[in-house]
Amino acid sequence: MVRKQEETFFMILGLDPERIYLWLHRKLSEKYGPVFTVWLGQQHTVVLCGYEAVKEALIDQGEEFSGRELAAIFKTYLKGHGITVSNGERWKQLRRFSVMTLRNFGMGKKSIESRIQEEARFLLEEFRNAGEMPIDPTIFVMQAISNIICSVVLGNRYAYTDENFQTLLTLTNDNFRIASSAWGELYNIFPNFVEFLPGPHRRFHKNIVQITSFLTEAIKEHERKLDPTSPCDYIDCFLIKQKQERDKPGSEFFRENLIASTINLFFAATETTSTTISYGLLLLLKYPHILEKVQKEIDHVIGHNRCPSMNDRVNMPYTDAVLHEIQRFTDVVPLSLSHCVLQNTKFRGYTIPKGTVVIPLLSSVLHDKAFFENPETFNPGHFLDENGFFKMNDAFMPFSAGKRMCLGQSLARMEIFLFITTLLQNFTLKPAVDTKKIDVQPERGGLLNMPHSYKVCVSSRKPL
Ligand code: HEM
Repeated sequence: MVRKQEETFFMILGLDPERIYLWLHRKLSEKYGPVFTVWLGQQHTVVLCGYEAVKEALIDQGEEFSGRELAAIFKTYLKGHGITVSNGERWKQLRRFSVMTLRNFGMGKKSIESRIQEEARFLLEEFRNAGEMPIDPTIFVMQAISNIICSVVLGNRYAYTDENFQTLLTLTNDNFRIASSAWGELYNIFPNFVEFLPGPHRRFHKNIVQITSFLTEAIKEHERKLDPTSPCDYIDCFLIKQKQERDKPGSEFFRENLIASTINLFFAATETTSTTISYGLLLLLKYPHILEKVQKEIDHVIGHNRCPSMNDRVNMPYTDAVLHEIQRFTDVVPLSLSHCVLQNTKFRGYTIPKGTVVIPLLSSVLHDKAFFENPETFNPGHFLDENGFFKMNDAFMPFSAGKRMCLGQSLARMEIFLFITTLLQNFTLKPAVDTKKIDVQPERGGLLNMPHSYKVCVSSRKPL
């Protein structure tokens, strides 16, 4: 039992629940060290801070720490189905299948690269249509990102004007905002109490019902059109597997898992990546000298007669460093998703009982002073050596590590590179307000760190 460094705390008293990760990192970890426990409501939770502790748990003792205990707000509707909330045999089957299927549809490969390049052209069109008017890029970026995962999972991209698509994204964004708000955190800490109060969690549940019915319709459509000899997307492949394993005892390929896995992929892929890109653009508006250096590198390496491709990345060390620093600084999933230990686990002299919830505090890894010279500052130099070459850093862990590590990492990294470089190749970006007034601290930061909303003025650019 972790006893020594234990703090009982009801966070409702005097804490900003939208910044739990700061409280855990800056207050409790400073006082108690890299491993301690807190009571979050009735939940006894072990928190791991800094690169060494997180790496020892998730990588060196990866099997024991690979359990999942997801926040109450998600548990309520997923009911243990799908990839993200499950454990044991269910998780193994669904994760293995999903990784393989996404790879077969080109994730991390050339085929998905051309889909992203094509979508980037649609995104350019949306920016161009705005003319001189300042625009909030968030919704366009979200549509573009969402269209990539929709292509892979549903076999479809949607026009940006499609009303159903717009509704789907509005509901998704609303849910992430609720889950990342103080209310969402309170719900997670005191679910049995908050459940009976009026509040935004009710809207969260309603949104989920609507999102589920959209995806269920899409699944029915797939069932009607399925050609088992020629699967077009993730849902087709799942349906085929479901048929193949119909009589196999213990098969996890059934409808509830299909719906939940589809929701998992859609949710996990859309908001995280689009937040990273929108937040990244905001940082570039705040630091125009960095933006200018990236655009110079784009002009030099790619020019203006072709679109960016993944092969360019290795020749663009400064841009690569900026994109890594964007992911480090924006710290989009600060608390990771909660884990739990699958058995009684010895860790750094403590015994953590089976089933205990564990938070690997990714935020503390991305701000680990032993790895980043000045973690609170946005500085691409964190990823450059003295000769200006790109330098990887072990504590770059925005996708977490170990067995539960994000399964969409290669897709997300491709999207971040291709969308940002394509936008910067084609547009001059100017903030709609004085750069001094741009606040780059997150507006909210429960589940996701989300930027303040902002506007940008775009104009077609001539090379610098
Ligand atoms: C910048 C973009 C992204 C970030 C920062 C991110 C981050 C994360 C993090 C921190 C986790 C939790 C890992 C853990 O529990 O240790 C996770 C899990 C997950 N991510 Fe991502 N993610 C991103 C994009 C994506 C994309 C594009 C996809 C889909 C193709 C995806 C699918 C998933 C899934 C399914 C899980 C659950 C894995 C499991 O429980 O086994 N993510 N992600």
